[in-house]
Amino acid sequence: MAQINPSILSADFARLADEAEAVRGSDWLHVDVMDNHFVPNLTLGVPVVESLARATDIPLDLHLMIEDPDRWAPQYVEAGAGSVTFHVEAAAAPVRLAREIRAKGARASMALKPGTPIEPYEDLLPELDMVLIMTVEPGFGGQAFLDIMLPKIRRTRELIAKHDLELWLQVDGGVAAGTIERCAEAGADVFVAGSAVYGAEDPAEAVRNLRGLADKAAADAWWACGH
Ligand code: DX5
Ligand code: ZN
Repeated sequence: MAQINPSILSADFARLADEAEAVRGSDWLHVDVMDNHFVPNLTLGVPVVESLARATDIPLDLHLMIEDPDRWAPQYVEAGAGSVTFHVEAAAAPVRLAREIRAKGARASMALKPGTPIEPYEDLLPELDMVLIMTVEPGFGGQAFLDIMLPKIRRTRELIAKHDLELWLQVDGGVAAGTIERCAEAGADVFVAGSAVYGAEDPAEAVRNLRGLADKAAADAWWACGH
């Protein structure tokens, strides 16, 4: 079944506990950490993640858009994250980092910006629990979905199948009712949605609607057969 992870980047930062409650039934809560260096925007850090982890039962899916994730990612596991995604463009030692995240008890995930190909990282895939294919340039919510990323989603799904891996494939950026089916057909099974969820009148209903669309689209997809 498709997993829907609402992104709190589009939520009210002064009411994060309430905003988590508003998407009850979601699989994960997606938390975008930005440092104004790796991306031209600044959001939140370890203390806020610690508080949020205490305030909600929904597991936290951390997306670190920061320099030096080798230093910071383990601290987000200690802060209570259930999954930590680092950008491979910023990681000095991605294998060592993935192993450290897993050893500390969280799922380890690697993100790729739109201009970064998946092929050079084929051999790293067994070290990971998830790959995040960005479908916008990271930094801001509410951007238009980049269709040209669909072939990369497809190729990543093919690599996962080729190596027979239990690896989740997440897409992030511009995911909404009009785009989620194409992502699911191409091979994504975890969907981040910010504005499509928190911009909706009923965020929990938006989550259910997105999940329904993704499940339907994946039902006939080659990669989901036998799932
Ligand atoms: C963007 C963030 C996304 C963002 C997505 O850099 O990584 O998680 O919240 O927002 P939408 O769904 O509005 O494109
Ligand atoms: Zn994100």
